[in-house]
Amino acid sequence: MGKLQDKVAVITGGVSGIGAATARLFAAEGAKLVLADFNEEKGASFKAELESEGAEAVFVKADVTNEADVKNIYDTALSTFGKVDILFNNAGIGSVKPTEELTYAEWRKTVEVDLDGVFLVAQAAIKEFLKSGGGVIVNTASMYGWVGSPGSAAYNAAKAGVINLSRSLGLEFAERNIRVNALCPGFIETPILGETDRKFLTNATPMKRLGKSEEIAKAVLFMASDDSSFMTGNSIIVDGGYTAQ
Ligand SMILES: NC(=O)c1ccc[n+]([C@@H]2O[C@H](COP(=O)([O-])OP(=O)(O)OC[C@H]3O[C@@H](n4cnc5c(N)ncnc54)[C@H](O)[C@@H]3O)[C@@H](O)[C@H]2O)c1
Repeated sequence: MGKLQDKVAVITGGVSGIGAATARLFAAEGAKLVLADFNEEKGASFKAELESEGAEAVFVKADVTNEADVKNIYDTALSTFGKVDILFNNAGIGSVKPTEELTYAEWRKTVEVDLDGVFLVAQAAIKEFLKSGGGVIVNTASMYGWVGSPGSAAYNAAKAGVINLSRSLGLEFAERNIRVNALCPGFIETPILGETDRKFLTNATPMKRLGKSEEIAKAVLFMASDDSSFMTGNSIIVDGGYTAQ
């Protein structure tokens, strides 16, 4: 029996990078998947790929910053699978620009997706979990929620917000069977890195390599499963040693 046998998991940003690797691992552990992302094309092909491997999955086109879309994620989950047990709240965008060149609109966009979106999707999950009797949330933050870096003020501020949001929600619902934790990856080889110089990222990482999405998915599985049954309001950093420096 898998660690997530017959659990229903919503994964935002679930069709690429860390979200997709986690979807594969969750499916291998017996979960049914609700993949929410605004990339419809990748969504359709990834859902088909998972189904061809025997997984049960539904794709919902959703922008996590849109309240109606967020409601539709849970409506679809409930109408397809009848319940939601797990939220991997993972959709996010990167932002690298010198602060003196950053427009307020660019700042707002990053914070809107990387912090407001995490709140909206978590809040909707909590409303369901309060009705159903409980659930688990893993919010994707970043090692850059713990340490700063030049040229990513909006991203780093949003990710620090996700860590303290997770602490606050973990405490608020600790006695109501809802666990909330944060995932803090280091540099992981996914499309979000864009054109960023891989040599620079590799050299900055004590283990002298980038992480793989599959290595991050294992930490998500720990936080989403009963293996972490006594953990809430906290974070796991998986960064090849970066924040230990
Ligand atoms: N890759 C890294 O080095 C790294 C490091 C730390 C944290 N993270 C975080 O991990 C998470 C996953 O990123 P990834 O590295 O897998 O990158 P990715 O670009 O492969 O995946 C991000 C996914 O989120 C989706 N998305 C973006 N904005 C959205 C929105 N408004 N609504 C719905 N979906 C949206 C994208 O379409 C994409 O599928 C992000 O929150 C990112 O900030 C990544």
